[in-house]
Amino acid sequence: KKVVLAYSGGLDTSIILKWLQTEYGCEVVTFTADLGQGEELEPARKKAEILGIKPENIFIEDLREEFVRDFVFPMFRANAEYEGLYLLGTSIARPLISKRLVEIAAQTGADAVSHGATGKGNDQVRFELAAYALNPEIAVIAPWREWDLGSRTKLIEFAEKHQIPIAKDKRGEAPFSVDANLLHTSSEGKVLEDPAEMAPDYVFQRTVAPEDAPNEPEFIEVGFERGDAVSINGEAMSPATILTKLNELGGKHGIGRLDFVENRFVGMKSRGIYETPGGTVLLEAHRGIEQITLDAGAGHLKDSLMPRYAELIYNGFWFSPEREMLQAAIDKSQENVTGTVRLKLYKGSATCVGRWSENHSLYSEAHVTFEEDMGAYDQTDAQGFIQLNALRLKLLAARDRRTKG
Ligand code: ARG
Ligand code: SIN
Repeated sequence: KKVVLAYSGGLDTSIILKWLQTEYGCEVVTFTADLGQGEELEPARKKAEILGIKPENIFIEDLREEFVRDFVFPMFRANAEYEGLYLLGTSIARPLISKRLVEIAAQTGADAVSHGATGKGNDQVRFELAAYALNPEIAVIAPWREWDLGSRTKLIEFAEKHQIPIAKDKRGEAPFSVDANLLHTSSEGKVLEDPAEMAPDYVFQRTVAPEDAPNEPEFIEVGFERGDAVSINGEAMSPATILTKLNELGGKHGIGRLDFVENRFVGMKSRGIYETPGGTVLLEAHRGIEQITLDAGAGHLKDSLMPRYAELIYNGFWFSPEREMLQAAIDKSQENVTGTVRLKLYKGSATCVGRWSENHSLYSEAHVTFEEDMGAYDQTDAQGFIQLNALRLKLLAARDRRTKG
């Protein structure tokens, strides 16, 4: 038996690694991905080696460009927000991790994959739905649902028994659980569990408090092509470079903090603290360029599909026919979403203050002007338009007069 484990190099997944070896008698292959979480990957290789993983069974990959290009950017074309606010930073990373787990399983002849998500959350659902969608034969091992190491004491005992190195600060209970990648940092649980209590300052990791942000606004320009950001201040950059740069800018200006109670797919409500500085700037920028390049009918339809699309991603259905159908419609809408947006970054907010497009704008000053419009728009057309639209309203009002007096 051989299993590919999504391995961070941290204490919990190291315990899982050992547990798979000892309880399942599995040969373990480790997969560690750089998704922009801001941690060195080489220590994970060292730890895997110490725990007895053969060098050919250690996979370490930089997936930042693929993550932003093929997952984050397609999602941002939809302006996706779960329950009106959450930018889906964790949800969108899971399908990519599962995709690589399944591919590495095929490559190494493994029959199973394994992850460190708990049995109470969304992540187990996302990892596993994606894995089964990509390989119906794959087996999934979810140690948190199976083992009897439910308490911190038992975990530490198990680690000590198996000579797993434990960092000093990892002996006690962590104050909350963190998931991070290029799109966001999410913090949940423990000290954050009471939704009535404000999150302590030390929770925040990639944004300053808005009140501590610079007193001077900063103006930036983001260029778009077919719905995707392609440049900042006129300089062309790769997708991951753009998001990295927007994170720096957003973080410095205190942009993208969210304190939110959401509905998990598994039924319970949970409270999370999110920091999505670059994503929040990008969303405002994308909406700004859509304002002048998207047709009203296409735009309103797209907006109406968004909550459903966001829910599919949240619930783990990235690899599903319905998500792909919606994606095809959303991508079609982006064909002319090309141009540039000027944003003001100031004390916690990103505001679109200008947008223009050489060839793709639908905005017509000739039509909208309050000055003499030189015949572009015949105002007498509006009279018949209003009369016909008012017809049924008049008939309704007349009936109400008769029946209600
Ligand atoms: N609630 C978020 C989601 O379901 C984040 C979950 C992972 N976060 C964490 N701190 N463990 O997408
Ligand atoms: C977890 O339970 O592993 C993290 C939270 C979630 O998946 O919703």
